[in-house]
Amino acid sequence: MPEIAFVNDVFLPLSEARVSVEDRGFQFGDGVYELVRVYAGAPFHLPEHLERLDQSARALGIPLPYPRDRWTAVIAEAVARSGFADAKVYIQVTRGVAPRDHVPAAGPVTPTVVVTVRAMTPLAPALYTGGAAVVTVADVRWARCNIKTIGLLANVLAKQQARDQGAQEALFVRDGAVLEGATSNVMLVEKRCLVTPPEGPLLLPGVTRRVVLGLAQAAGVAVKERPVREDELYAADEVLLTGTTIEVLPVARVNGRPVGAGAPGPVTTLLMARFREARG
Ligand code: PDD
Repeated sequence: MPEIAFVNDVFLPLSEARVSVEDRGFQFGDGVYELVRVYAGAPFHLPEHLERLDQSARALGIPLPYPRDRWTAVIAEAVARSGFADAKVYIQVTRGVAPRDHVPAAGPVTPTVVVTVRAMTPLAPALYTGGAAVVTVADVRWARCNIKTIGLLANVLAKQQARDQGAQEALFVRDGAVLEGATSNVMLVEKRCLVTPPEGPLLLPGVTRRVVLGLAQAAGVAVKERPVREDELYAADEVLLTGTTIEVLPVARVNGRPVGAGAPGPVTTLLMARFREARG
């Protein structure tokens, strides 16, 4: 099965895909991205991902080169060419190729488009039946975390810190508030109410987060979007993570301390089941 790339209008094997060293994505991290799951050949909630790509690009003044239906067609063709039924589609748009200068060129620069399709390796099943470990880290990112930019160094370092402590995810804490994971959104359950930090400039409005909040409401679980303090993680009945790659992941330990009466708790178990049904 070939891993496929699409670079500036051309499909080719991923191993042959190239971009210029003068690409502003390479030089400055000047670009945006999305990651979309494919289940049984169908991209999951693609319109929401394309909407967020549009919002990220607009926030940075990067003109998206294709209308919505062209993105959809390119992604469908890339998935079809790959032959993968379960896959992850990575979409990246940078400001384009130009001689290195912090100030973007005044004239039009053609954005660089990269789409790749790769096989999906899910997390170990034991993490879903027994829960994951998370650690908290200081949020040293900038103040526009709602933009899905390719500038992910703080996330990379946080993830590395988690791994070094035997954990799967790092949760960013700023001024005592828990915001999100390095590659996921965070939720907790308090007296059967699902609580998650509200959307705003300090966290990514996750597609999975929105899907899971909807599934909770449909199942009769109360949902509250409000700031969450770090100490609430230790008092919570349940803690869970949501994200395109991890889906709904129960958390068993925060900084080594066990969560609630053991993971996954009842609300997380319900949401995992509803999510499995929703993805087909
Ligand atoms: N990241 N918060 C951050 C910082 C993320 O990087 C992600 C996902 C999420 C969850 O968003 P969504 O549900 O839309 O995937 C939240 C992807 C998976 C990545 O960087 O690979």
